[in-house]
Amino acid sequence: MSHNINHASEEMPYFIRPSLNLDAKGKEAAYQKAAMEIKAMLHGEDNMFVKMVTINSLLKINLPYAYWVGFYCVNNERLTVGPYQGTIGCVHIEFGKGVCGGVAVTKLTKIVEDVTILSEGEDHISCDPNSQSEIVVPVFDKNKNLIGVFDMDSSTKSSFDKIDQKYLEQIMADVFEVDDLITSYQ
Ligand code: SME
Repeated sequence: MSHNINHASEEMPYFIRPSLNLDAKGKEAAYQKAAMEIKAMLHGEDNMFVKMVTINSLLKINLPYAYWVGFYCVNNERLTVGPYQGTIGCVHIEFGKGVCGGVAVTKLTKIVEDVTILSEGEDHISCDPNSQSEIVVPVFDKNKNLIGVFDMDSSTKSSFDKIDQKYLEQIMADVFEVDDLITSYQ
């Protein structure tokens, strides 16, 4: 029997729990720890796949509101899902469609406090009905070419803010925009 799975069900798999938001102090501490662990794990690493899977894992471990984390990579003038952690992610996203496709066009980080108010299929693409808020960050290579976007969803509204944007943009720049990982987190 073939199973046509193109998006996640309402029921969360046993290994995924509902998101828990952090206050500003807790968020800063969590990102400082995650960023230092990413620095330690990826120092001198040049393999793109290793970089992405490591970022996904360490962010999901350190951020209790990280319900879905992953990359969408530029591929034949659209976005194609790359390494991710979470429920089934949409496979291909056209530039300009959804939050990810919009960021691929603007090349600017987008924070969505409540995805349910967006036009479904246009300004938002729902891969999982549990996703309630989202941040998407553009990812560039050392020549400032867009190589993809990093997407983080939460099952709780208003999980993301400028603190997430600051650290995620810094992590992506440190990991993907230089040959060797050069980071400085004060
Ligand atoms: N919500 C994203 C699609 C990716 S799934 O959330 C993993 C968007 O609107 O582009």
